[in-house]
Amino acid sequence: MRCKAFWKSHLQCCKEFQARCLRGRKGESLLILGAGRLLDADVPFLLSVFEQLLLLDADPGALEELKKNRDLRAAGARVQYLLQDVTGSIESWTEELEGLLFNKCEESSLTEFLQQLRPYDSPQVKAQVVLSLNLLGQIPLYWRDRVHALLLDQYGLDTDVDGKYAPALQAALDASCAALQLGHLEMLKSTAAETIMLIFDREYCYYRRDQAPWRVESAMYCSNVEAALAPYQACERDSWLWHIAPQGVEASDHGEIHVVEAHAFRHEK
Ligand SMILES: C[S@@+](CC[C@H](N)C(=O)[O-])C[C@H]1O[C@@H](n2cnc3c(N)ncnc32)[C@H](O)[C@@H]1O
Repeated sequence: MRCKAFWKSHLQCCKEFQARCLRGRKGESLLILGAGRLLDADVPFLLSVFEQLLLLDADPGALEELKKNRDLRAAGARVQYLLQDVTGSIESWTEELEGLLFNKCEESSLTEFLQQLRPYDSPQVKAQVVLSLNLLGQIPLYWRDRVHALLLDQYGLDTDVDGKYAPALQAALDASCAALQLGHLEMLKSTAAETIMLIFDREYCYYRRDQAPWRVESAMYCSNVEAALAPYQACERDSWLWHIAPQGVEASDHGEIHVVEAHAFRHEK
């Protein structure tokens, strides 16, 4: 694992938050969205609490790795692996965008297209507890990177040095990213879970060893997570720093730290 020593406290904080939220509970099913390689979850503990684990990720390589995990293998049919895009939208949106670019549309049509995008149906999975695991901040990045690549390759349009387009187009792209994040929060509610746990990046901070000021970017395109999850009620909360890429490891000229938030919500039936 890259930067193992630097990730240790983040991974530990994720596991402790989950343990705190699940203390004293016995459950039927846990759905983990963004399971990846489950570095940020305590698999034996989760298997001791839940009868069934449903592990969803869009990365086939990550799920193949998980299938080699000794504890998960021993749990047999109690564990299901779901290879899916949690948004249900990114492939379809990409095809629609390719169609528009193929027809050499005006930039204003591109802006309109991005502005009106709404998520398609997300995967429908029911579970007693759902955990969105370091995923919410990543969801728009996949879409944004595809838009950047397509606009550059098929439209000859690049961003400025700060990675931004002209204001109207940038605002429309940001709106599509917000729609994806809000769609994810709706998807969490659609599981009908009694408890929702959500661990996500709130901010990305970039530093240089030789400069005091940091550059801070929001990882969130939609602002109010608690309001979006109503009628679920917040019951636990934590926050910490994740030194994800120390300067000199990924890049020589800067390092990156994420501000992580963890929330749990309950819905009394
Ligand atoms: C930062 S990683 C989370 C860490 C992961 N729990 C682990 O320990 O490896 C984010 C995970 O979300 C997955 N992901 C990102 N966008 C996704 C999407 N639209 N649908 C499903 N999974 C997605 C990635 O493949 C990755 O495994």
